[in-house]
Amino acid sequence: MKILFAASEAVPYAASGGLADVVGSLPKAISAKGHECAVVIPLYQSIKPELRGDMEFVTNITVDVSWRKQYCGIYTAERDGVTYFFIDNEYYFQRVGLYGFYDDCERFVFFDRAVLEMLKYISFKPDIINCNDWQTALIPVYYQIYYKYQQGYDKIKTVFTIHNIEYQGKYGKEVLSEVMGIPSYNTGLLEYDGYINMLKGALETSDKLITVSPSYAWEILDPWYAHGLDRILVTKQYKLQGIMNGIDTKLYDPAHDPCIAWRYTSDELSGKVKCKAELLSELGMNDNGEPLIGIVTRFVRHKGIDLIRCVFEEIVRSGVKFAVLGSGEKMYEDFFLEMARRYPERVSVNVGFIPELSHKIYAGADMFLMPSQSEPCGLAQMIAMRYGTIPIVRETGGLRDSVRDNGGENGNGFTFKTYNAFDMLDAVWRAKRDYYDSDRWEALVKRAMSCDFSWSSSADTYIETFEDMIKEQ
Ligand code: GLC
Repeated sequence: MKILFAASEAVPYAASGGLADVVGSLPKAISAKGHECAVVIPLYQSIKPELRGDMEFVTNITVDVSWRKQYCGIYTAERDGVTYFFIDNEYYFQRVGLYGFYDDCERFVFFDRAVLEMLKYISFKPDIINCNDWQTALIPVYYQIYYKYQQGYDKIKTVFTIHNIEYQGKYGKEVLSEVMGIPSYNTGLLEYDGYINMLKGALETSDKLITVSPSYAWEILDPWYAHGLDRILVTKQYKLQGIMNGIDTKLYDPAHDPCIAWRYTSDELSGKVKCKAELLSELGMNDNGEPLIGIVTRFVRHKGIDLIRCVFEEIVRSGVKFAVLGSGEKMYEDFFLEMARRYPERVSVNVGFIPELSHKIYAGADMFLMPSQSEPCGLAQMIAMRYGTIPIVRETGGLRDSVRDNGGENGNGFTFKTYNAFDMLDAVWRAKRDYYDSDRWEALVKRAMSCDFSWSSSADTYIETFEDMIKEQ
C-alpha cells in the first residue's frame, strides 16, 4: 500500500503541537511494517537550514486558487524510510509562525490544491490520502469535485483524521467562489450554520473519519465536545472510528535520551532521582523531598488551566513544587508568572516551546498534571508515563483511554471525572498520599513505565483500516 499523509506540521520540520508528533511518527511506524509512506507539508520559513540542506528540488508547477494562478515549488527528502514533500510558495509560507494570519484560508486552500496537483508530477501514487485537521480539510472536497474522475486519481481513498474538533476553519460565504474556487452548486458541502466550514467539508466528503482516541470518537457526538459539529457527526457515524495515537518511543526513552542528565530504566530508577535533583537545581529550587508536579502544555482553556488556577495556591502551600512549561493565552501566562513570583522556592515557570526542557520535566517530575476539559488524545500523559512520571488527569478522550486510576492496586495514574477543581484537587491529594508511601509509589512508577504506548499496535489498526477501504472498491 502507498499512503500519503497531508498535514500542516510534522516533526522535525515544523511543530506547534501534538499533530506534528503524530505526523512525524505514524508514517515511520507504518513504513516499518512494509508499506510505502509519504508526508507532504508546506515549506515554511522556520524549517531549519540543516534540514533544508537534505532537500532536493523536484519541479515547479502552477496551482489555481480560485482565479489566481500561483507558483508552487515541490521539494523532496527521505528520512527514516519515509518520503517527504514540501510545497513551496514564498508569498504564503515565508512568514514568522505557522498560522494565525488574516489569509490562513487562502494559504491552506493553496496548499490543499497543490497537494492534489502535485500527484501528476511525482512518482509516488497513493492508494490512500490521509488528511489531518482543518488545514487539509479541502483535499477530500477538491478530490470529490475536481479530481476523482481524472485519470490516475480514480482509485484514491481519502481519510480525514480529527486531532481537535475545536479548530474548524470557519469563514464568510464569500470565500467559496473568491478563494476556494468552488461552484455555488456545491455550497452544501461546506456550509454549516451560515458559515463556510472547512472541517465540515471533510466530514462530508472523506471516505473515512478517524479520531485520535476511541473515546473521542463518541464524545464528539455530544454538543459539549463537538463545538457545533455534533449534528453532522451523528449522521457520519458509519464512517467514524477512533484509533489511539502512539508516541515516538525512540525520541522519548529514559534509557537513551540525550536531553536528560541521567539515564534510567524501570529496573534501575536511581537515575530518575538524580534527574529530579538536577532539574530542581536548574530551575532554582532545592530538593527537600517534596513532590514535584510537571505541567507541559499549551496555555489554552481546553487544557484545563482554569481548574489549575482555582486551587494552585492551595496545592503549593501544602508542600508541593511545580515545574511549568508552556505558552499560549496571555492571561494564563500572567497567572503562572505571578505564581512563580509569589512562590519562588516552589514554583518555576518557563514560557515558550522548549523541547529539551520538556524532556527534563518529563524525567525529573514525580507527577504530571493534565486536567483537560477535552483531550482528543493527549501525548504528554503517555510520554510522562514512559519516564515514570505519574499522570493526574481528567477522564476525557485519550486521557480516559490511557490512564487508569490507582485507587486499587493496578493503576498507572490518578483520574477524576467531573470538570471541577475540587475533584482534581482530590486526585492530587491521593497522588500525594501515595507518593509518601515509597513502596506503593515505586510499584506505581514501574507499572506506568511498563505500559506500551508505542505506535506498533495502532499502526496495525491503521493498516487494517486502510486495507479494508481499498478492498471496498
Ligand atoms: C491535538 C489534540 C491532542 C492530540 C494531538 C495529536 O493537539 O489536542 O489531544 O494528542 O492533536 O493527535
